[in-house]
Amino acid sequence: MKILVVGGGGREHALVWKLSQSPKVEKIFCASGNAGISQIAQCVDMGDSVFESLAHFAEENGIDLTVVGPEVPLVKGIVDYFQERELPIFGPTRQAAQIEGSKCFAKEFMARHDIPTAAFQNFDNPDDAIDYIKTLGAPVVIKADGLAAGKGSIVCPTVEEAFGAVKAAMIDERFGPAGREIVIEEFLEGEEASVFALTDGQDFINLAPAQDHKPIFDGDKGPNTGGMGAYAPAPLVHPLLMKQIEHEIIEATIQGMNQEGREYRGMLYCGLMITPEGLKVVEFNCRFGDPETQAVLPLMGEDLLDLLLASVDGNIKEWKAKSDPGMGEEKSAVCVVLASGGYPGGYQKGKEITGLEKVESGTLIFHAGTRWDGSRILTNGGRVLGVTVVGDDLESAIKRVYQEISKIQFENMYYRKDIGLKGLKR
Ligand code: AMP
Ligand code: GLY
Repeated sequence: MKILVVGGGGREHALVWKLSQSPKVEKIFCASGNAGISQIAQCVDMGDSVFESLAHFAEENGIDLTVVGPEVPLVKGIVDYFQERELPIFGPTRQAAQIEGSKCFAKEFMARHDIPTAAFQNFDNPDDAIDYIKTLGAPVVIKADGLAAGKGSIVCPTVEEAFGAVKAAMIDERFGPAGREIVIEEFLEGEEASVFALTDGQDFINLAPAQDHKPIFDGDKGPNTGGMGAYAPAPLVHPLLMKQIEHEIIEATIQGMNQEGREYRGMLYCGLMITPEGLKVVEFNCRFGDPETQAVLPLMGEDLLDLLLASVDGNIKEWKAKSDPGMGEEKSAVCVVLASGGYPGGYQKGKEITGLEKVESGTLIFHAGTRWDGSRILTNGGRVLGVTVVGDDLESAIKRVYQEISKIQFENMYYRKDIGLKGLKR
């Protein structure tokens, strides 16, 4: 089969890497890829939301399956566009992707279907929002309704900061049209986990539960980033809790989306908070997580292509009956993100990356923001590389991943030193 992967970050490198191991795969194209992806796939220079060019490419090249990494094309309806042209594609339709595309929709949806989440109210008027904050007090969380590249949620320790966040979103339009409506919700105390359900709209398969590390500094300090590292499986999500998540969140969401005529096929990413009062959904995403995918896929014993096709073809039930997924949970994987100094604020690009050839075989180097200039690999983004090690246990995986990272260099390279430690404490 010929596969087209859409996107060009660490998540897409992990997807391409895993798909390339399938005996059924003849060739992989990636639009637009990066320096690492270009070593195992043919990169084509095309934006991830130019549907016409992407569909044309898929038709011309006889692509048997298109796999979409990022949320923007999914929320804009790439799946509908391909389906109208009878081009096989993995992911939710535009209507279904609203579960990530509109936080107001997602919160109302959870309320309609009794899916546990933080208490909230949606607003399209700043004065009403301010009045609500006065009654609620702080800490409180303000969220832009639409996509904001992971920056649209502001945790506000004081009422004044919450007023400022409302102004920034609704009056100053810091997130553009995405902030015209907002969610105001209760601050949740607890530990976060990422759970991935691959579904065909009826049945689902879980991947190993993971934990991301969003803030830039050790100890979860500083501003949020796209994610500075992940590990899986996360012991926080023990088997009993997983059962509860399956029942109260995943099944309820799949059924609820069906009832509302928005059948959900693809990856349902559940961002959860495990609070002293119980389980709550922080957000849903309509795609694989980044960097979680870089820790989860290396643990997967199954052929990823089989799973994606089962979702597209509606065969998850049969697939589950003949093959117990057992997502490699007897091992542990740790992924540490190497970032450009300054990220998530301003940073420089174009720094030469050296030492990659020194890492031990078995270490996985997933490229995110990198570029090949003909002779060197250069930094080309905030998150530059994800280094993943799979070990017999979490402790040995953490130790090895940091040993391997010490061999890699670029100017102003920054990474967190505490990825996975929360898991070790358990
Ligand atoms: P979101 O954009 O909804 O994924 O939120 C980004 C991050 O903000 C989450 O991963 C949490 O760390 C934090 N966050 C969001 N909502 C809440 C909440 N209600 N309580 C505490 N932290 C939150
Ligand atoms: N790791 C967070 C995300 O993929 O949104």
